[in-house]
Amino acid sequence: RFERLWLVGALTLIVLFIGTVTYGAVGAGYGMVDATGGEVDQTNPTASDNFREPGVYNGSEPNHYDVYIEAVQFAFVPGTSEPIRLPANSTVTFHVTSGDVVHGFEVVGTNINTMAVPGQVATVTVEFDEPGEYGLVCNEYCGSGHHTMEGSLDVV
Ligand code: CUA
Repeated sequence: RFERLWLVGALTLIVLFIGTVTYGAVGAGYGMVDATGGEVDQTNPTASDNFREPGVYNGSEPNHYDVYIEAVQFAFVPGTSEPIRLPANSTVTFHVTSGDVVHGFEVVGTNINTMAVPGQVATVTVEFDEPGEYGLVCNEYCGSGHHTMEGSLDVV
């Protein structure tokens, strides 16, 4: 008799857990598609065309965008001096590298969170369903200005 009660309790917890995860991914207006933090690209990314001119690029499909971001002491380019602007209902692949030391790239309020390592490109693909404003922060200590290293991302 008690076994049955435990079973019901366990199933309820599982359903609640799945619900929480689903809300976290979908309800907040974005969803994680794919993340390969620290994926190694042996060619120096700062020498490639897209990193020579960091920014937002049209992707292979109509609602897909590629964002090339270079982290430097103590800014995200783009992101710090001007916000990264992206349309809602889009799939976005972030390509993140560093121009000097190891930085972090975190989009506050989402699970976009990767390291920015010199000589490597981290890629994270997400979907932005709804408009929203997000903060960017560096979460790896990178020098005296680490705590000032932030930016913004506007989904419009
Ligand atoms: Cu860049 Cu901390």
